Amino acid sequence: MKNHFILVENQVRPGVALLRLNRPKELNALNLELMAELRDALQALDQDPTVRVMVLTGNDKAFAAGADIHQMSDKSAIDMLRIDQFSTWEQIRRLKKPLIAAVSGFVLGGGHELVMHCDMVIASESTRIGQPEIMLGIMPGAGGTQRLTRQIGKVAAMEMVLTGKPIGAGRAYELGLVNKVVPVEIYLEEALKLAAEIAEKAPLAVRLAKEAVLKAQDFGLSEGLEFERKNFYLLFATQDQKEGMDAFVNKRPPSFQGQ
Ligand code: CAA
Repeated sequence: MKNHFILVENQVRPGVALLRLNRPKELNALNLELMAELRDALQALDQDPTVRVMVLTGNDKAFAAGADIHQMSDKSAIDMLRIDQFSTWEQIRRLKKPLIAAVSGFVLGGGHELVMHCDMVIASESTRIGQPEIMLGIMPGAGGTQRLTRQIGKVAAMEMVLTGKPIGAGRAYELGLVNKVVPVEIYLEEALKLAAEIAEKAPLAVRLAKEAVLKAQDFGLSEGLEFERKNFYLLFATQDQKEGMDAFVNKRPPSFQGQ
């Protein structure tokens, strides 16, 4: 099926796929159709053995200005419950491969919540991150109170969610919301570079390590450590573990096959 709101390019770097939100006139507002296309495209790439890492971007002016307000404005609580838009987001949360966000301009509301579904974030200097839902008489609904608070702590999350005021890229870096801030000309290139670096690593180790890091957001420490240990042991069943350690011992670069 042809995508309308998402552009997908595979192998932009070896093992790296790029997805671009493509509703520029509406500042990439996330309507239901866009989110369904995005979910389908991400799930297909997650299953594609030629892909090891995915990068999600928008454009220089907007990563995404939030959920589509026009689509929601006349809905009742029961309509929203029936539409159940967040089950789509839940499927994005379950992706196995790393997803890196390359963001610039407006990263607002659901746009920022989508970024928090990603594993790492490269931001341009002109990035503005905010949870402005309070201005609309609502509140975040896709993790903007839960993931945000786990990431930046109570008082900073409270300020963002209750005032709705966006923060700049520098502040977002200080708070740990983004990995790196770079000039607008190179944020996508930086994200692709990071993706290519991870794409060279052993894919099963990357997958189990991602899974374990995400569990740290859900689990208490003891449960998390037990989970980590099991994934660690499991990797000793892979050929890539033998390859990685043999390469180290014999002073040569490893070649990981994802087996
Ligand atoms: N939904 C639908 N359309 C949107 C939109 C959104 N979230 N954000 C921008 N647009 C549309 C505008 O309606 C406008 O379209 P028209 O030209 O057809 O009128 C176009 O994008 C350009 O927007 P502006 O003219 O407003 O551009 P600006 O540069 O003056 O302002 C902005 C930019 C400050 C981002 C402003 O557009 C804005 O405040 N947008 C809404 C941001 C917001 O409140 N997001 C949260 C949404 S709710 C949510 O996300 C819930 C959740 O948790 C899932």
